[in-house]
Amino acid sequence: MTVYAIIGGTGLTQLEGLNIQRSLAVDTPYGQPSAEVVIGEYAGREVLFLARHGHPHRFAPHKVNYRANVWALKQAGAEAVLAVNAVGGIHPGMGTGHFCVPHQVIDYTSGREHTYFADDLEAVTHIDFSYPYSEPVRQRLLAALAAEGHAHSDQGVYGCTQGPRLETVAEIARLERDGCDIVGMTGMPEAALARELQLDYACLALVVNPAAGKSTEVITMAEIELALHAGIGKVRNTLQRLLAQP
Ligand code: HPA
Repeated sequence: MTVYAIIGGTGLTQLEGLNIQRSLAVDTPYGQPSAEVVIGEYAGREVLFLARHGHPHRFAPHKVNYRANVWALKQAGAEAVLAVNAVGGIHPGMGTGHFCVPHQVIDYTSGREHTYFADDLEAVTHIDFSYPYSEPVRQRLLAALAAEGHAHSDQGVYGCTQGPRLETVAEIARLERDGCDIVGMTGMPEAALARELQLDYACLALVVNPAAGKSTEVITMAEIELALHAGIGKVRNTLQRLLAQP
């Protein structure tokens, strides 16, 4: 059976229902991951869990050590990654509470350590990233969302911004022209690093606010937290549903 790792985003710094067996403090050539890798039993199988922002939440999106995180999961035995991300909705069909399992990503980040092939130029590898997400893992997420009856889109383009500030209305309009359906700050370089380490990777994105200019209101942290709180149970039962399948 595939060994899955869950990377929990904002609102998911620990996985309720995970029967923890051990925690690994993994040291990597790239420094410390955000937190210990937790290994436990979830939905009847062994899974790994890592809090992307640390537990408690400590690292802003641009400060997350994505290289150490993905490396630590690989080292701990992960074969596939289920990444959970809170996002803003750009597409009119992607309102608060909606799920999207993106099929494409556009990277607008800058200055992040984004590759394992940085130091030894002899060994630079240009990974194919035409299709950034694993289609089999995406399909498993979609099947689980459907089985749970959670409103979702079976594809979408994830625009990853640098943060930690939210975007301007003009920036969101540009992302929209680029074809982005959702916007978040943590999808990259995580997905590319997973590909470099040959991990299957897919993203379960929960919309927690309309992106800038997509509602008449300003975006508040209170609104985001409320949406996270309302959606996190659905994230959990989607993951459980997926993992309960062989
Ligand atoms: N923009 C970027 N990242 C986000 C948003 C947003 O509106 N909401 C949650 N993460």
